[in-house]
Amino acid sequence: MSGAQLYDTLGATYTVTRRTEPRIAAQIWVALGDARTVLNVGAGTGSYEPADRDVTAVEPSALMRAQRPAGAAPCVAASAESLPFENQSFDAAMAVATVHHWQDPIAGLREMRRVARRVVVFTFDGSETAWRRRFWLTRDYLPEVGDLLVGRPSLAEQARAIGARIEPVLIPWDCADGFFEAYWRRPEAYLDDRVRRGISVWTTVGPEAERRAVRSLRDDLVSGRWAERNRDLAALDAADLGLRLLVA
Ligand SMILES: C[S@@+](CC[C@H](N)C(=O)[O-])C[C@H]1O[C@@H](n2cnc3c(N)ncnc32)[C@H](O)[C@@H]1O
Repeated sequence: MSGAQLYDTLGATYTVTRRTEPRIAAQIWVALGDARTVLNVGAGTGSYEPADRDVTAVEPSALMRAQRPAGAAPCVAASAESLPFENQSFDAAMAVATVHHWQDPIAGLREMRRVARRVVVFTFDGSETAWRRRFWLTRDYLPEVGDLLVGRPSLAEQARAIGARIEPVLIPWDCADGFFEAYWRRPEAYLDDRVRRGISVWTTVGPEAERRAVRSLRDDLVSGRWAERNRDLAALDAADLGLRLLVA
C-alpha cells in the first residue's frame, strides 16, 4: 500500500490528536530562514505551515486534503517523487513527518532540492542505537517497528541526497502533536485507541502486534514495572528520541 493509500484509509481521525507543536514549529520556521515562498510536501491537514509566508501545499491523499481547514494554503494533489513545479520555483521546501511514507524517499528529497533553494525536513534517525533501543515503546513493547524500516534509506543517506546538515529535535514532555514518540512521558496515552489511530505505525504493524503491545504495556503500568524501568524519564522535560531536522 502506498503512503497516500494508507492515509486515505486511516486519515479520517487525524486531527483528533495531530496538530502543530509550537516548540517544534519554531525550530522548523527558524530553519526556513527568510524564505517568503514555501512548499510544504506531504502537507496533510496543514500542521506546521507558517502563517506569515506564502505557502503552497502538496498532498497525495484526498482524505487528508479534505480535512485542511478553511483558509489553509492552496493544496496540489501530487507526490514528493514527482513535484509539478519548475526548478527553483520556491524559496524553501519543507516536509514534516512524511518522508518515511514516501515510496522513494531519495527521489522525493531530490525533487525538493530541485524546486527550492532551501530544504527543511523533519524526520527521524531509525538506527538501532538512536531510536529503537532508546524509546521504551519500541524497545520493550513493539519491536516490530524495526521491520518497517528494513530497506529504507538511513538518515545519513537522506542527508547526503540533499547535502543537508542534521539538527536534533527534542520532544517536549507535553508535546501537542500526537505522533508516535510524543507520549514518551505519558505512557497511559498509548492505551487510548483515539491516540493510536492518529499514529500510522499502529495500523502498519497489524492488529495482533497492537493488541499484544497494548496489553503488555497496560500490565506493566498496573504492576509498576513501567515506572521502575523508566524512572529516569520522570525528571526530563524534553527527550532526544532520534527526531531530526535536515537543513540544506
Ligand atoms: C504523518 S502525515 C504528516 C502530515 C503533515 N506534514 C503533518 O505534519 O501533520 C504523512 C503525510 O504524508 C503523505 N504522503 C504519503 N506518501 C506521500 C508521498 N509519496 N509524497 C508526499 N506525501 C505523501 C500522507 O498522505 C500524509 O498526509
